[in-house]
Amino acid sequence: MPRENPYSLGTMTKILPNTMNPAASDKAASGAVLRAFAQPGVSKKPAVMVPIRSLGENHRARIAGHLKALDAHDRYYRFGFAANDEQIDRYVNGLDFDHDEIFGIYNRHLVLIAMAHLAYAADTGAVRSAEFGVSVLPQSRGRHYGSRLFERAVMHARNVGVSKLYVHVLSENKAMLKIASHGGATFVRDGAETEGHLLLPPATLNTHLTEMFEEQLAQANYRIKLQSRQFQNTLASLQSNWWRGNGAEKRD
Ligand SMILES: CC(C)(COP(=O)(O)OP(=O)(O)OC[C@H]1O[C@@H](n2cnc3c(N)ncnc32)[C@H](O)[C@@H]1OP(=O)(O)O)[C@@H](O)C(=O)NCCC(=O)NCCS
Repeated sequence: MPRENPYSLGTMTKILPNTMNPAASDKAASGAVLRAFAQPGVSKKPAVMVPIRSLGENHRARIAGHLKALDAHDRYYRFGFAANDEQIDRYVNGLDFDHDEIFGIYNRHLVLIAMAHLAYAADTGAVRSAEFGVSVLPQSRGRHYGSRLFERAVMHARNVGVSKLYVHVLSENKAMLKIASHGGATFVRDGAETEGHLLLPPATLNTHLTEMFEEQLAQANYRIKLQSRQFQNTLASLQSNWWRGNGAEKRD
């Protein structure tokens, strides 16, 4: 069964230059790397709050649909190998919504356009750690949904006492490296793979209240979208009945 981010966790030998970390002292070099990542046409941060909600058991099918909508290249980036549909099904069926945290962003048509998995490491009693994995549908990229999901996961991780967050990324995955780098991750590169980790500060009253507020807003946003879709379906079925009735009347 695919792991949350099933890259090999062999000894990472080569430390990436500090330029991968925005907190690094060599700001000039850092600027050069960030410029190299910049992509024309990638839009700026959304001015409005992105409704990110935590997903439960009843979202399993939509999670599978989201992941299966990714092409082989994206699946390779997401899982470390080009997972086929069967492997995605196994991964999704294995998701433990009680143990881990899954976050999602739905569009107005209730399509799950972005999702993140915060997988907690087995509790060893010492430092609590977790691993972050994310995907955004191609048509919704460049809107900072990936970044927002990362921030939300970091906030949640802090709120539940996680102090170390890992991200396993293919070294060529510029967008993901940027997301983690903006979050202050330190990277260790091992050939095609890069492991990033962040030391998280403890939660504050602010992180608890912010998360609670954002979750409630996102849940309300989801309910409105759901009701709107139900209303549209009812309207469409009323209209089609009316047309059928009207057509029959004319024929009579
Ligand atoms: C990685 C991924 C989640 C990024 O999602 P996204 O919503 O498009 O990312 P964002 O819009 O938040 O962009 C993050 C940063 O990367 C930059 N970026 C986005 N796409 C980029 C690209 N193709 N090349 C270089 N930089 C890129 C953005 O400009 C942004 O930088 P900024 O904050 O300095 O402006 C998405 O590409 C994806 O789903 N990929 C396939 C799965 C995957 O790679 N998962 C990660 C491994 S767990």
